[in-house]
Amino acid sequence: MSKVVYNFSAGPSVLPKQATEAAAAAIADYANTGIGILEMSHRSKPIEGMVAETESLLRELLSIPSGYEILFLGGGASLQFCMAPINLLAQDASADYTDTGVWAAKAIKEAKRFGKVNVISSSKNSVYDHIPKDFKQTDGATYLHITSNNTIYGTQWKEFPTANTYLVSDMSSDILSRPIDVSKFGLIYAGAQKNMGPAGVATVIVRSDILGKAGREIPTMLDYQTHIPEHSMFNTPPVFSIFVMNQVLHWLKNLGGVSAMEKINAKKSGLLYDALDSSKLFKGTAAKEDRSTMNIPFVFHSSVVPTDKKDALEKDFLTGAKEKGLEQLKGHRSVGGFRASIYNAMPIEGVEQLVSYLCDFEKKII
Ligand SMILES: Cc1ncc(COP(=O)(O)O)c(C=O)c1O
Repeated sequence: MSKVVYNFSAGPSVLPKQATEAAAAAIADYANTGIGILEMSHRSKPIEGMVAETESLLRELLSIPSGYEILFLGGGASLQFCMAPINLLAQDASADYTDTGVWAAKAIKEAKRFGKVNVISSSKNSVYDHIPKDFKQTDGATYLHITSNNTIYGTQWKEFPTANTYLVSDMSSDILSRPIDVSKFGLIYAGAQKNMGPAGVATVIVRSDILGKAGREIPTMLDYQTHIPEHSMFNTPPVFSIFVMNQVLHWLKNLGGVSAMEKINAKKSGLLYDALDSSKLFKGTAAKEDRSTMNIPFVFHSSVVPTDKKDALEKDFLTGAKEKGLEQLKGHRSVGGFRASIYNAMPIEGVEQLVSYLCDFEKKII
């Protein structure tokens, strides 16, 4: 039997086994057609049906009201950094943005190409260790953009702000981790490769009445209104990625949906945060009230590990973790230390093993 491995990667990240097994089988023969899914036309009945089912599963799981369209597009979340303002923001209008991390900053940079951007709050000066919630929205701003979960820094909006108009959110790293009130949002976008499936597809949930108002010529492929009547089939969509997402959504539904998932995520993250809070060697880096249930960065206490010993001890920690099958725990370079990404598909046993390793390592050092 192969060794049990727990993959704490920030993305692409762990997927439910059920979904990866179904994906492997579908490559050989999709839905008993004798043709593999990679070789099948997106216009064929089985694929059209699968994409439509994926859309309706997502609508059901996130309670997406009527008036909202669901799209599966290529280009990742990064393409949405520009597609959102191209479609929503008129040249002479402005939008409010909250600067909560590198991804938020990238969204800001792209939006500036298409209209005026008001950065109404930022936690950049403290390496994005908290969500800056004290802000004033700009009168007349078209929308308020947030990044619901900041993958690198492990901060998460626990309650969404109420926008004067509507929210636009990058939910790449926490979509489907908890119930959300979609009606607060005009647009939600997310790269799939954390909680939804493999890379290659981004999900867009858009309220259709906000479209068609930007007053600019939009290249066909970048116009949401191109893709809506075509049900994401204007061109060849990333069929295989959508299929894996379909399987992930079935898995989530069978587990009890996003409310059940939220409880599991609270339990998993609680276990790890409790261990970090009671540790004399490790500490979490994010402000307690904004701690993410998805990404948990942590470092050594600098009072215990002097700077000149830090790199070597971090290496020891990671080597020991790998020996125990605890993979991909190295922190992002901007935060340092370690990061455990515990997305929906990370089993609680993985977190328990990590906590046990943290305790053992600490006993060896202190
Ligand atoms: C919050 C967030 N937004 C956007 C991105 C970029 O996503 P993509 O690679 O799909 O463009 C990431 C990737 O990690 C992310 O974590």
